[in-house]
Amino acid sequence: MCGIVGYVGRRDATPVLIQGLKRLEYRGYDSFGIATVGSAIEVYKKAGRISAGEGGVVGLHGCTGIGHTRWATHGEPNDINAHPHTDCRGRIAVVHNGVIENYRELKRHLLERGHIFRSETDTEVIAHLIEEHYDGDLLAAVNATLPLLKGSYAVLAIAKDTQRIVAARDASPLVLGIGDAEVFAASDMTPLLEYTERVIFLEDGDVADITPEHLDFYHGGLKTERPVELINWCVEDTRKGGFPHYMLKEIYEQPQSFYETSRAGIDEAVRRMILEADEITLVACGTSYHTALVFKYLAESLCNIPVRVEMGSEFKYFIPPLHGLVIAVSQSGETADTIAALKMAKARNCPTLAITNMQGSTVTRVADKTLLMRAGPEIGVAATKSYTAQLAALMQIVNLRCEGAFDDVLSHAHLAIGEVLLLDLKEAVALCSKAEHVFFVGRGPFYPVSMEGALKMKEISYVHAEGYAAGELKHGPFALLTAETPVVAICTPGPTYDVMTSNIKEMKARKAPIIALGAAGDTELAEIVDIFIPLPNTHFLVQVLTASVVLQLLAYHTACTLQRDVDKPRNLAKSVTVE
Ligand code: F6R
Repeated sequence: MCGIVGYVGRRDATPVLIQGLKRLEYRGYDSFGIATVGSAIEVYKKAGRISAGEGGVVGLHGCTGIGHTRWATHGEPNDINAHPHTDCRGRIAVVHNGVIENYRELKRHLLERGHIFRSETDTEVIAHLIEEHYDGDLLAAVNATLPLLKGSYAVLAIAKDTQRIVAARDASPLVLGIGDAEVFAASDMTPLLEYTERVIFLEDGDVADITPEHLDFYHGGLKTERPVELINWCVEDTRKGGFPHYMLKEIYEQPQSFYETSRAGIDEAVRRMILEADEITLVACGTSYHTALVFKYLAESLCNIPVRVEMGSEFKYFIPPLHGLVIAVSQSGETADTIAALKMAKARNCPTLAITNMQGSTVTRVADKTLLMRAGPEIGVAATKSYTAQLAALMQIVNLRCEGAFDDVLSHAHLAIGEVLLLDLKEAVALCSKAEHVFFVGRGPFYPVSMEGALKMKEISYVHAEGYAAGELKHGPFALLTAETPVVAICTPGPTYDVMTSNIKEMKARKAPIIALGAAGDTELAEIVDIFIPLPNTHFLVQVLTASVVLQLLAYHTACTLQRDVDKPRNLAKSVTVE
């Protein structure tokens, strides 16, 4: 949530910052801004997106600079509240990702001391506090400021007359890219890929003093070292590659990302952890919560392990009794609620495992062990390939606990995923794009798949959608069924097939148009529904995947028909780094 970038080196900083902000736009896109150190601190900031407003950035000079793309927390998105924020005399500029919880108290104190505030943001107090302590030594002024802040921050500060950035992190991500006499800073790795593959991840509590000549790290006031790591992504992975949207590209990448993640294997220490667990708790949010729920159905029914699934956002306030292995599932590895839950599990001495797509992310630092997904960068705000890659990782765990019983099934799953990419969904899309409400229903693991289908539909098309366990619909939501309310039902062969077809008939009797996803060749089902979407005739584990991909495509094409901003839906950001 919010993206920050910084550059110190010999290049003109402005184009580097603009490019970096474009790459980070998925973290927030309601306003943007840049500040550079020329003969003075020069600032340009604006409400709206960098992709629309970059033309306005003219006349900024200097080879040192910072930038920000915002997802508003404190203060509405407008030019004034956009970052960077400066002190009273325009000698200091800062960009910040996170929330300063005690900013009101700090602001009151600063106002009493004569500081003049321009914005409604929490961040502006940081610039004024640095000003309070600044006597020409930016590092010392930042070091004096940080202990006064309560909350979370990744912050970059610059000052007039010095070619340096002082960077600090506590509970918000920050990574540095190391070039030749130049250093890049960013909220995540994507803006760095154009320039370098060598990165350093800051730890919570770290401060970095960055100049073209040197890079020093401090922790708890003492100088420290941080290792250089190599990034496992390349810049091509962040391009649209001829697709109209990142989301469509990422949907189409799923055969590969599923295959890569499944065959990446599980290292010995993680295997032991999984095999020794007599109970597993998963913590996650949003789409990742849905993959965790799919895992619960699979692991409990196929390998008899008790599994509970907790939403990160609830867990912290209503802590359940905890036993056994705790797994945090997070594409970004930076979701604040998931991290908070993971930390609580650690505090209770549970063994912890992170499943994430982001090398070096916070969950990998907190958890005892990590299982890294191989989905590559996911730029579309709606999770797609990371969802199936999470399922690849979680299905590997099921397979391990079932002594490899699904080796063969999983090694061919990518082929079936590839097949459903070619399905014609026009009729179903036409129905959904005219509807005000759409229901998604399924049973067993297809219930969380339905929840995910509904989430995708509402977040990118803004059509109201709900995912239900098929049997629950008649306990209330039936009241909403009309001839204008399509129901998307997943009805594949298996123990729930007969009861699902009865549910479908009940819904049809209320005149609801039914779009059914069923096994190819199921003519009986095809006859009783309005639109039949055939899934390849495969193992039910694979149908969990293929059904999910079809629902992604249904949401995508519905959103396109309604001319929505598919990759950047309103009010959302890719990574929710505040609670
Ligand atoms: C929806 C979506 C979100 C994320 C959620 C958790 O398409 O992407 O619901 O799944 O914000 O994010 P991660 O997985 O990064 O923890």
